Amino acid sequence: MADTSPMDLYESLEAQGGKVRALKSAKAEKAEIDAAVQLLLKLKVDYKQTTGQDYKAGCPPSEDAAVQDNGLAADGADEADTVNPWDVSTTNAKGVDYDKLIVRFGSSKVEKELVDRIERVAGQKPHRFLRRGIFFSHRDMHQVLDAYEKQKSFYLYTGRGPSSEAMHVGHLIPFIFTKWLQDVFDIPLVIQLTDDEKYLWKDLSLDECHRFAEENAKDIIACGFDVNKTFIFSDLDYMGSSPDFYRNVVKVQKHVTFNQVKGIFGFTDSDCIGKISFPAIQAAPSFSNSFPQIFKGRKDVQCLIPCAIDQDPYFRMTRDVAPRIGYPKPALLHSTFFPALQGAQTKMSASDATSSIFLTDTPKQIKNKVNKHAFSGGKDTVEEHRKYGGNADVDVSFMYLTFFLDDDAQLEKIRQDYTSGALLTGELKKILIETLQPMIAEHQERRKQVTEETVKQFMTPRPLNFNF
Ligand code: TRP
Repeated sequence: MADTSPMDLYESLEAQGGKVRALKSAKAEKAEIDAAVQLLLKLKVDYKQTTGQDYKAGCPPSEDAAVQDNGLAADGADEADTVNPWDVSTTNAKGVDYDKLIVRFGSSKVEKELVDRIERVAGQKPHRFLRRGIFFSHRDMHQVLDAYEKQKSFYLYTGRGPSSEAMHVGHLIPFIFTKWLQDVFDIPLVIQLTDDEKYLWKDLSLDECHRFAEENAKDIIACGFDVNKTFIFSDLDYMGSSPDFYRNVVKVQKHVTFNQVKGIFGFTDSDCIGKISFPAIQAAPSFSNSFPQIFKGRKDVQCLIPCAIDQDPYFRMTRDVAPRIGYPKPALLHSTFFPALQGAQTKMSASDATSSIFLTDTPKQIKNKVNKHAFSGGKDTVEEHRKYGGNADVDVSFMYLTFFLDDDAQLEKIRQDYTSGALLTGELKKILIETLQPMIAEHQERRKQVTEETVKQFMTPRPLNFNF
């Protein structure tokens, strides 16, 4: 094998990957599939030995040693969880294996030490999302804190793809956490609404996407952001009106090849060119001079992006490009996914009404959905449950409480009682229902207060309270 070129090996791997997929989809004999997978694995080892890189489907060997993982598990040869901006799934009822994901994506774990450090620097008890490992992974958080301690502040960037009017509780996770960061660090925040992205990916008109962006902005504003420190923008509006933003988009576009985005995002030759160039648009807000009205032309203000881990491919690309175009790399804090009611094998999805608790649900709808659909780790009968106890690790109601019930001692007591069998599934669900109902009612109340005028204020490019 030593004299086989990387390109030859790559092509054999592509062909063999295709063969494995074809055998699997044709439901071929197990022995035949196994043999094909064995050969594939052998080729992968050869490839790694020859190129020093991991083989990635659709990503030919490059000079660039940076190994990218598109999270697509495209060769189908291992049981890796699928995690990418369009698809999250696993076969494990406990959900995605997040420790493995950290290794695959090359990020760092949010260790206790980092949580303690955030507590010291911010001077506040860490948010429950940090205490409970919901924001579990990061890139460069220590550098951000080092700089902050030396009076070098930073700004926050997060976003949302407005694919419908209906937002669910899972969508709130990054925003709840971002609001906390904004409050404790007292820093500006930009929120990108990618109505352009949703137009490119979904069967929706431009007008629909733009309208969803404005509707979603109301739910985001209802999370309590400070209007003096927050700029929310629709790509469709802001791109056309901000030459500095567009300049950064073009800079990124010049420094990423088609091959790279194919490798990172799994694009194919039949994807429209809008999709292929979109990642540059999600990258641009990571650079402070995309917002001259806020940062007065400075290009060196550090950015921190709180987001769900499925958005990481965009920011791996951004971090790869940043130094080459003279900008600091954005730091990241990644969250786990908010599980679907049916179980942690996938995340909540707005397009599946029974999988989600929507921000517009009535108390009665919340009660019915939780009682009917929330996957239970309890036993089939009360007798068995009392005897053997329930499994909180796979129980969706318990998982939701870890997101929303702030009291650590109460949560721990619920876990112990459920595990011992003292607490029944119906009782656990009742606690969840009584946690969600007021939380959502309060959200609805705050959203009602958000007028068109307020939305306009948040979405107008203007200076923010920024004096670093
Ligand atoms: N692509 C994201 C989505 O579909 C939206 C988004 C844009 C985003 N910029 C972001 C999310 C920054 C997190 C952080 O939801």
